[in-house]
Amino acid sequence: MPYQSSGTISRIRRSVFFCALASLIACGPGGTAAGTPIPGATISPHSASATKGMVVSASAIASDVGRNVLVAGGNAVDAAVATAFALSVTYPVAGNVGGGGFMVIRLPDGRATTIDFREMAPRSATPSMFTNATGEYSSTIHHRSHKSVGVPGTVAGFALAHGKYGRTDWRRLVDPAVHLASDGFSVPPGLAQSLAGARAYLGIYPSSLAAFYKNGEPYNAGDRFRQPDLAATLARIRDHGREGFYHGETARLLAAEMRRGGGLITEADLAAYEAKERAPVRGTYRGYDVISMPPPSSGGVAIVEMLNILEGYDLASIGHESPRYVHLVAEAMRRAFLDRARYLGDPDFTKPPLERLTSKAYAAELRATILDDRASPSRPAQVAVRYESDQTTHFSIVDADGMAVSVTYTLENGYGLGAVVAGAGFLLNNEMGDFNGKPGLTDTTGLIGTDPNIALPGKRMLSSMTPTIIARDGKLVAVVGSPGGRTIINTVLQVVLNLVDGGMGIQAAVNAPRFHHQWLPDVLFTEHNGLPAPTVAALEAMGYHVRDGGEQGTAHSIFVDPRTGTRVGAADPRDADAGASGH
Ligand code: GLY
Repeated sequence: MPYQSSGTISRIRRSVFFCALASLIACGPGGTAAGTPIPGATISPHSASATKGMVVSASAIASDVGRNVLVAGGNAVDAAVATAFALSVTYPVAGNVGGGGFMVIRLPDGRATTIDFREMAPRSATPSMFTNATGEYSSTIHHRSHKSVGVPGTVAGFALAHGKYGRTDWRRLVDPAVHLASDGFSVPPGLAQSLAGARAYLGIYPSSLAAFYKNGEPYNAGDRFRQPDLAATLARIRDHGREGFYHGETARLLAAEMRRGGGLITEADLAAYEAKERAPVRGTYRGYDVISMPPPSSGGVAIVEMLNILEGYDLASIGHESPRYVHLVAEAMRRAFLDRARYLGDPDFTKPPLERLTSKAYAAELRATILDDRASPSRPAQVAVRYESDQTTHFSIVDADGMAVSVTYTLENGYGLGAVVAGAGFLLNNEMGDFNGKPGLTDTTGLIGTDPNIALPGKRMLSSMTPTIIARDGKLVAVVGSPGGRTIINTVLQVVLNLVDGGMGIQAAVNAPRFHHQWLPDVLFTEHNGLPAPTVAALEAMGYHVRDGGEQGTAHSIFVDPRTGTRVGAADPRDADAGASGH
C-alpha cells in the first residue's frame, strides 16, 4: 500500500502488547512489508510499511511529494526539502516558509548532524522590547504584534541541508510545492476544519483573509484551494534558492509588511540570517543510541536527561499505566523541566552545562531525590515556567540507503502571528514569544525572566522541539518527534519508552495515551481518559494534581524492523490529514 490516511481522529487504547525488549526485536512493529500482521500487534489505518523509503507527515499530500522524490532517486534530505515546502502549502497551520525549526540527520554510515534554522531576533531587538511605553510587560507586544516576528530560518535551513547532504537538483524539490500552490489542491477535511476555526484569528489581517478564505468564507472539504501569491514566492525560492527569499522581491515584501505593522525586521536582517550546522546531543538508553537536537532547542538535552534518570528503573516490569510507572516518568519530567528553565538558551550567547545535564552521574543524583511513594514539590521560587504554544509540526523520513531525517518546524502559534505578508502569500511567525518577556520578571502567572533566554540582537529563542533519531549497534531503529510546545519533549519521551520498555509496535507507541508534567504548574496533565481511573486516584493520593490536558502532540514516526529492514511509517491519528507514504 503506497500510503493511507484518514480523516478520522481515532484513539486506539490499551491495545498495546508487552514483551521484554529482546523486546523490540521479538515483538517488532505493527505490520510487515507484506502487510501480514504480527500476532498481537495493532494495525492502524495510519500505518504503512515499505521496503525502501518512507515519509510520514501531518499532510498525506506532502508525504506523497516526499515519497515521489525518494522514488526518483533522491535521498532523505532531498525528500525533506520537498516535504517541507509542500507542507507550507497544504498544512499552513504550522508548515511554513516564514518560520523556523530543526533537522536531525543520520547518514547511512552512522554519522549524525543537525541543522539549526531557528528564527533569530532582528538586529534592533532589545531585552525590554516586549514592554509598553510605561515599562510594563505587554503580552500583546510579545505574542500578537509584528514585533513578535523573528527573522525566518526555514528557507536557509533547508538550503543548507540540501547543499551539504542533498543530491537532487533543488529546483525539482521545490517545484511540486509551486504547483500545489498555483494549481491548487483538494482541501482535506482537517484543513477545512482548521481554517474554519481560525477565521477570527486570521480575519483581522486583510491579506490573510484573501489568502485563506473565498470571499471571506471558509473552504469546504473537497474545494480546490489555490494560493497564487505563495506560488510566486515559492517560484522565487525554486529559481534562486535562499537568495529568492532573503533578497529581492520576497525580502522587499517582508520588510514592507514589517514597516506597515510596526515590526523590526529589515532587508538587512534578512540578508544576515544564518542557519547553522551543530553537533547533535547524544545519549544512550538501555543500549539504544539517542541522537537529538542541541540548544537552542531544549528538547535533546531534556530527553537525554529524562532517559538517564529512568534507566535506573525496570520500567518494562512495571505496568505501563500503573501509578508507579506514571509517578517515575512524571518525576523525571519534573526534574528535566526545572533544568531547562534554569540553564538553557542560545549556545551562541550562553554556555549551558550540557555535559553535566546529559551525564549518567547527574541522572543518578536526580534519581536519588525521587521518593518511592510521593510526588515531589515544585516550588515556584525555584523557577516559573510560562506558556508555550502547542502548534508546530513534525515529519520523519528514511530513504532506501538508511539515511534518516527528523524535522520539526514551526510558526509558534497555529498560523503564527496570523498575518500573511501582503503580496507574498506566506504567514509570519510569532516566535519572538519564545524569548523571556522581561529581564528579571518571574512570576506565578508563568512569566520567567532568567538570563539565558532574554532577547538580544541576532539571538535565537529557546525551543522545545525534539526531532530525534534512535539507533542500536550501528543500525537505524526509529525516527521520532512531535509538535506540542513544552509537551513535545514528553511526547517524544513516551514514544521512545513505549518502544523500548513497552515493547510496542511503532503505531501502538504513537497512539498510546500520553501525559505531561513540566515542573510548574505543578499539574500532571493527561490526555482525555488517558489513564485508568484507579491510576488517577492512586496518583492523587501520592500528591499529584491530575488534570485533563486534551490531546498531546502528533508524533509522526518511522520504525525500521531490524530483521527485515522494513520501514514502518506511523502517522499519528491525532492529526486528521496525516499520512505515511512509502515505496
Ligand atoms: N514554538 C515552539 C517551540 O519552539 O518549541
